Amino acid sequence: MKLQWFRVPKDIVFGTDALEYLSTLEGKKATLVTGGSSMKKFGFLDKAKQYLEKAGMEVSIVDGVEPNPSVETVIRGGKEMEKFNPDWVISIGGGSAIDAAKIMWVYYEYPETKFEDLIAGKFPKLRTKAKFIAIPSTSGTASEITAFSVITDTNNHIKYPLVSYEITPDIALLDAALPAKMLPHITANTGMDVMTHAIEAYVSTNATSFTDPLAMEAIKLVYNQLPVAYADGSNMKARADMHNASALAGMAFTNASLGIVHSLAHKIGGEFGVTHGLANAILLPYIVEYNKEGTDKYKEIEKQLGIEDLVKTLKELNKSLGIPERFSEITEVEITEDKFNEVLDRMSKNALEDPCSLTNPINPSVEAVKEIYKAAF
Ligand SMILES: NC(=O)c1ccc[n+]([C@@H]2O[C@H](COP(=O)([O-])OP(=O)(O)OC[C@H]3O[C@@H](n4cnc5c(N)ncnc54)[C@H](O)[C@@H]3O)[C@@H](O)[C@H]2O)c1
Ligand SMILES: [Zn+2]
Repeated sequence: MKLQWFRVPKDIVFGTDALEYLSTLEGKKATLVTGGSSMKKFGFLDKAKQYLEKAGMEVSIVDGVEPNPSVETVIRGGKEMEKFNPDWVISIGGGSAIDAAKIMWVYYEYPETKFEDLIAGKFPKLRTKAKFIAIPSTSGTASEITAFSVITDTNNHIKYPLVSYEITPDIALLDAALPAKMLPHITANTGMDVMTHAIEAYVSTNATSFTDPLAMEAIKLVYNQLPVAYADGSNMKARADMHNASALAGMAFTNASLGIVHSLAHKIGGEFGVTHGLANAILLPYIVEYNKEGTDKYKEIEKQLGIEDLVKTLKELNKSLGIPERFSEITEVEITEDKFNEVLDRMSKNALEDPCSLTNPINPSVEAVKEIYKAAF
């Protein structure tokens, strides 16, 4: 018997001013979890609190979740929730805030949880104290949909992808007014993360008839709408389409998994601190070129988009979004050739061991991974 699953949040609530949905929730207490400052600065945190109070709830706030959230942060959040005892855990922010809130929720319900068990995929049964809502402020990671959370062990600098359907949110709340505040370069990076999720899920060896249509729709939406959202951040149709595309791609990849673009991006991100979406965007065309021998499905993407050559199209798309062709050209962190060569062996071996490599259309050798890294450098 080989069983496969298709599991997504029970409710996906979306539309103009969807945030107001919070005022219709039933419960006594809610804890809002958020990141550093953007949700406060733009007034969304206050709005969310007011809607919850309108619903008759008492509200507490756990804030200051850092990018690449740490084990310490999720344990701290769990303790704060234990004191307050909410029946809703509501995360509002980017992938980092939502990922952190998921694991705070685990520690809230089970304070004795061992982080090693979570790494091994052994999660306790949740929803004994609270249900979980995710309100994404980026159109990128799709953490509002997925069974994943990425938590960093700051002592040994390792990012752990934690996976369990238990942490799939109960409700994903999509309000495009939030991501509409993203600066153009964040729109570009997170938007290309969506494209990468959709393409990798589509060609994944675990792709099914359930995931393919979702992935393909996300590919089309990103191809048509990301350049519009990048050029004019106030275009709400493009913003809403990108927000939906992110969730659609999430529905595909949480069930079909990903491929080696994510494996290589995770490791170069770990070594040099390159932003997740940017690393994916740069690697994607090189890996489509490499994977071509292993799948016919890129041809279907070319047919559906009405284009000749997916690699060329992805390179042009990156260029139009101000994303460089190579890691040596990025400006957010400096990667010197010496440092790159120094870590290349280790980075390539680690990339092969990433769980995302298991569902790539081709099972590459370490040598092949090194060649891809070198080309993309
Ligand atoms: N759970 C998953 O399925 C999954 C998948 C892929 C990646 N991840 C993880 O998610 C994290 C990245 O998440 P992310 O890309 O959403 O970025 P993020 O949450 O780290 O936020 C990136 C930056 O954008 C800012 N920001 C967020 N929303 C904004 C808005 N509306 N307006 C203005 N600024 C805003 C934040 O303050 C931050 O500075 C990484 O840790 C990555 O490993 C998780
Ligand atoms: Zn991603």
